Amino acid sequence: MQHFDTVLNRRNSNSVKWDGGELIKSFGFTERFDDDTLPLFIADMDFPVAEPIVQAMQKVIDNKIFGYSIIPTEYYQAIKNWFSRKYNLHIEKDHIVYSPGTVNAINTCVKAFTDPGDGIIIQRPSYPPFATAIENNGRTIVDNHLVRDENYQYHFDFEDLEIKAQDPKNKLLILCNPHNPTGRIFTTEELRRIAEISDRNNLIIISDEIHGDLIRQNAVFHPLATVTNYENLITLTAINKTFNVAGLHCSNTIIQNEELRKKYESVQGMQSPTPFAIAALIAAYNECDEWLDQLKEYLDGTFEWVDRFLSEKMPQVKYSISEGTYVLWMDFSGYNLTPHEVHDRIYNKANVVLEDGKMFGKEYDDFQRICLPSPRSIVKEAFERIAKEFN
Ligand SMILES: Cc1ncc(COP(=O)(O)O)c(C=O)c1O
Repeated sequence: MQHFDTVLNRRNSNSVKWDGGELIKSFGFTERFDDDTLPLFIADMDFPVAEPIVQAMQKVIDNKIFGYSIIPTEYYQAIKNWFSRKYNLHIEKDHIVYSPGTVNAINTCVKAFTDPGDGIIIQRPSYPPFATAIENNGRTIVDNHLVRDENYQYHFDFEDLEIKAQDPKNKLLILCNPHNPTGRIFTTEELRRIAEISDRNNLIIISDEIHGDLIRQNAVFHPLATVTNYENLITLTAINKTFNVAGLHCSNTIIQNEELRKKYESVQGMQSPTPFAIAALIAAYNECDEWLDQLKEYLDGTFEWVDRFLSEKMPQVKYSISEGTYVLWMDFSGYNLTPHEVHDRIYNKANVVLEDGKMFGKEYDDFQRICLPSPRSIVKEAFERIAKEFN
């Protein structure tokens, strides 16, 4: 078993999560960030990466030269094998485009496939860089809010989507599956319907599936490409989240439609992965299945602990256990406090940094998102500190 319980000191390592206090204060995440702060906001893990990745990167270091790199056949083969083994999805080598990060890929898609003023549909609450990519590029956000049921599960509003998809100004739909921040994994029926509506209305779909490998052990994730032949589908995938190598900026954009792919490549410009990213991807996809299985088991244990803790100590907090991702989306409205007061108790008094719900859409002021991929002792301390401020 891997040592996911071991606490590594990440301070003074240029980590956004542990050393980025001034940066995130300037972004308005928090007012307080000091040596006692527990940062559970950004989606990166406090676990060491799998040994085969470390060894592969060590070999690159041993070469002592880190020059421009070509992408070897093994890189493409490792991606193809992974998706075929895990999801029974056949990917053509020629459809894979390396991108220096998924957020970068989203921005490239926005620029490549829409014009200023065009509408882009997103399903809020939604990962903030989707909205930023749309607004910063002069496009228009078109909200197709997810609808919450009594069990705090989120679903598509298909009626609303039908209306918005029919508007010829709306050109692109950015889907997030598994969904950040709600943790939903959409069913094959839901996904088929999304593809069918998009196909009928000529909407290009960007399916951000970066969390696809990080799901509960009893959950099943279906890449959108496994349930539809829709040719205007672009899938974003990465080793960044799954294997905790976000700093390597290694994602892959799968585009089967040649015209769209050429457009994407011309807007992205020439990009090639670093020798470290190439080595890490090949090792991750070929040799780290067992590490990932153990990670999922550990994360499931953490979710179980959190579920027990919240129901015993903070029953006013409403949520459903995420089917996928390692984030938890919590509604604090049961305390009947202002969002400002909730924020103050968590960020300033408990000294735990999460992400305010309003970052995911202004309607979600009462929510907080926490990232749970840390040693359980850190997660426990964060929740205990928070509970103390609410009881
Ligand atoms: C849905 C989603 N897409 C993209 C990213 C970031 O991906 P990358 O580091 O590859 O840019 C995240 C990180 O949290 C995410 O949750």
